[in-house]
Amino acid sequence: MTDIAPTFFNPLEDGYVASPWSHFDDLRRNEPVHHSPIGQWFLFRYDDVSALLRDPAQSVDDVNIAHHNEDRLAQFEKAFGEDAERSTSMLGRDAPDHTRLRRLVSKAFTPAAIAALRPVIEDLVDDALDVMDERGTTEIVHDLAFPLPFDVISVMLGMPESDKDQVAQWSSAIVKTLDPIITEEEVFAAADADRKMSALLDEVIAWKRANPADDLLTALIQAEEDGDRLSSRELRDQVSLLFVAGHETTVNLIGTGIYELLRNPEQAAILRDDPSLDVNAIDELLRFVSPVQFSRRITLDDIEIGGHPIETGSIVMTGLASANHDPAKWGDDADRIDVRRAGTAQHVSFGSGSHYCLGSSLARLEAQVAIGRFLRRFPDATMTGEAEWNGRINLRGIERLELAVR
Ligand code: HEM
Repeated sequence: MTDIAPTFFNPLEDGYVASPWSHFDDLRRNEPVHHSPIGQWFLFRYDDVSALLRDPAQSVDDVNIAHHNEDRLAQFEKAFGEDAERSTSMLGRDAPDHTRLRRLVSKAFTPAAIAALRPVIEDLVDDALDVMDERGTTEIVHDLAFPLPFDVISVMLGMPESDKDQVAQWSSAIVKTLDPIITEEEVFAAADADRKMSALLDEVIAWKRANPADDLLTALIQAEEDGDRLSSRELRDQVSLLFVAGHETTVNLIGTGIYELLRNPEQAAILRDDPSLDVNAIDELLRFVSPVQFSRRITLDDIEIGGHPIETGSIVMTGLASANHDPAKWGDDADRIDVRRAGTAQHVSFGSGSHYCLGSSLARLEAQVAIGRFLRRFPDATMTGEAEWNGRINLRGIERLELAVR
């Protein structure tokens, strides 16, 4: 008898972040519905992922977790404090709270509101490209991929000037908690960063109360001051979600997207020569890069997926990145970029169902302008160093990439 090693999802393996794709491939083939030794379930097939995300009968709220990973819970309680209240951000709330919170914030994300931001985005991109042009070189994450989404969400919220590098460091520590596996040191760093970020947001909210303007933060403060629509805790948690979600994800689409196009020069050339492909190409990069690799749901009843019984109260991680590379959905060339791919917008990079990313049109617009303009202005851009990955399992992306632009 031959011993076949069981498929084991180990995102801590060397080289995983640089290329998780062969792991997903293996899991989709051998164990597409995977129960990990740390207790969570993982889904790797497109059909399973999109069906679960769209199932209104499941939850996103931690209170419904029946099977906690005791070690992880103890670590978090030690770092964040036992009575740290759970976040009230819409991403972790079910209806009716979710519906109320999302409705309040949605007004800033209407198609007209996003379209009105186009000139702001174009100016920010052109200014960044001017600096690169003058210098002849760039570290693309530092010069474009990070500051663009950061500045855009700051403008939308009406944030006062802040120390960008400091905030970047805090939010980077905080989003590490989205990884399915995290060290004790990282949990403590996240808790510390969370306290500092909360203190900064409290100060910003107090400043904005005294300096109201025509911006999202003022609108949310008014909803809070109106009384029963938004508590002050909810106000801070929505601002925190928008601020962090606004830049920690789009940075990976723009930075890693440019990296992938430079590695696929024939695709970059097709896109460079045909701006009408900007919209489709960005969706293809969203599919291919998958800036958020996992989302999750918590089961509210006993369900069965792919023949596996999953008990009430289980955490089920939906493998968005794996779903986006599933050949059963995308065909044999799923692991290749095709900027003309038909139907690519069916990717699940923005999730699906009632929690579908509220900032999706904004992220798409930022990437269309940034990547389109970069490619056309610097047709000879080349990598001059190795890409450095950010070491994150979930918000995976390039952290540094040096380029010569002419
Ligand atoms: C490429 C960039 C982005 C990606 C890949 C992304 C991805 C996601 C994903 C996967 C979800 C969870 C969906 C689910 O579980 O079904 C989500 C939710 C969310 N995103 Fe994004 N996002 C991006 C950019 C943004 C931006 C720019 C903003 C705002 C400025 C934003 C705001 C939000 C909010 C508020 C939610 C919570 C929605 C809810 O719970 O109803 N995102 N996003």
